Amino acid sequence: MAGAEQQKRGRVLVVDDELGIRQALTGLFEHSGFAVSAAESSASALAVARASELDVVILDLRLGPESGLDLLPELKALHPDVAVIVVTAMATIDTAVDAMRRGADNFITKPIDPPRLLALVEKGLESGALRAGSARLGRLAARAVRDPMSFDSEAMRGVQALADAVAPHATTVLLFGDTGTGKGMLARYLHGRSPRAGRPFVELNCAGLSRELTESELFGHERGAFTGATARKLGLLEAADGGTLFLDEIGEMELAVQAKLLKVLEQWRFRRVGGVVEHDVDVRIIAATHRDLEKDAAEGRFRMDLYYRMNVFAIRLPPLSERRDDVAALARRFLEEQRRGHRLSEEATELLLGYDWPGNVRELRNIMERAAILAPPGGEVTLAHLPPLGPRGAPESTGALGAAERALIESTLRAHDGNLAAAARALGVSRGLLYRRLAKFGIAAGADAGTEG
Ligand SMILES: Nc1ncnc2c1ncn2[C@@H]1O[C@H](COP(=O)(O)OP(=O)(O)OP(=O)(O)O)[C@@H](O)[C@H]1O
Ligand SMILES: [Mg+2]
Repeated sequence: MAGAEQQKRGRVLVVDDELGIRQALTGLFEHSGFAVSAAESSASALAVARASELDVVILDLRLGPESGLDLLPELKALHPDVAVIVVTAMATIDTAVDAMRRGADNFITKPIDPPRLLALVEKGLESGALRAGSARLGRLAARAVRDPMSFDSEAMRGVQALADAVAPHATTVLLFGDTGTGKGMLARYLHGRSPRAGRPFVELNCAGLSRELTESELFGHERGAFTGATARKLGLLEAADGGTLFLDEIGEMELAVQAKLLKVLEQWRFRRVGGVVEHDVDVRIIAATHRDLEKDAAEGRFRMDLYYRMNVFAIRLPPLSERRDDVAALARRFLEEQRRGHRLSEEATELLLGYDWPGNVRELRNIMERAAILAPPGGEVTLAHLPPLGPRGAPESTGALGAAERALIESTLRAHDGNLAAAARALGVSRGLLYRRLAKFGIAAGADAGTEG
């Protein structure tokens, strides 16, 4: 154990409304050579976070009447590189999984096991240092370099080959794929393999942002550009200069902003909101969407010229149900990431292989994270640690109507060699709807259609 005299190993903030836990954890960390502060509420935690540097935050999800979850984004906004370890009771592990999705780095369940907590803090310090090494907002890049993609399928080998081919170039890349298929991950992979890897990777999710907000986020604004613009603010384009700008959910961008973005893509110049001077910018744009942009463009919901300008190099990430070969590799990787020494039992693997994964890789990750909490450390993940995943072969009785629908779907799939996208097109329905029907009828999806189910 490190002596208290030695230089502090990092700054830890303990946020818990229980005095006993605050005291115990403060003692634990002081003893292990950390500088520690403690807070009993959101307000006092934020006060500490505003006043001092932080490396790791231990955050109780239940802070009296408040939720620690609400504190997460504010903590991350104040200290982008801070590692947040969420503390949760067994009964609320779904909240922990949610917290990880919202940016927490790890979680620990009560009663807290001190050696395990210290190990998580070490891990948090490590990743925080990696993140801090890259520029502000470029923090995701470090993760991309450490986390290569996991897969076994032919389809993903194709995706990686395309990505490797385009990565070194400044070409705009458009990523298509359903939710959770790995578009964000692929964007970071591209950046990590480009000559811009040492420069910022900046991300803007265009979904749900008003035109004004998107413009001010993207282009920045001059002081006095609008009410409330009390100071000049640099936009993400400038923050990404020399690096990569990842525009997620580009299909949700308002048409007026699209026009301005097109200008950037054509001239690599832009103006801050309320500004007159044009600035040059050197960014590589990667955009992603789960929408059918071509259709949106044809129907006037997306600018056709921007679509063409961005569609120079498109990569489609297939849904997980079209690449079942990846399921086992991904499941093992997500277990390994939890570092609790778990193995995946055969029956559990079978169950995972038989499921249709409407939430794709993200859903698989969440399920494995949850399993890693439930299974005893160092042991096997079995069916008992997995949620009931609807099997493919349990058709619901839908009478003659259902039988006709099922027959139509099966023959269409056969006619298209099991290619879901092609079958969906032929049937004039969305792929999502077709998946749901497949699951409902227990028809095997993907290349293996027709051989089982
Ligand atoms: N091939 C892969 N190997 C390892 N992890 C993966 C892979 N693909 C996806 N993931 C992980 O799965 C999760 C979901 O991926 P990601 O967020 O990139 O999906 P997405 O397509 O951007 O989803 P959304 O459209 O909802 O934003 C992430 O945690 C990501 O790291
Ligand atoms: Mg994403």
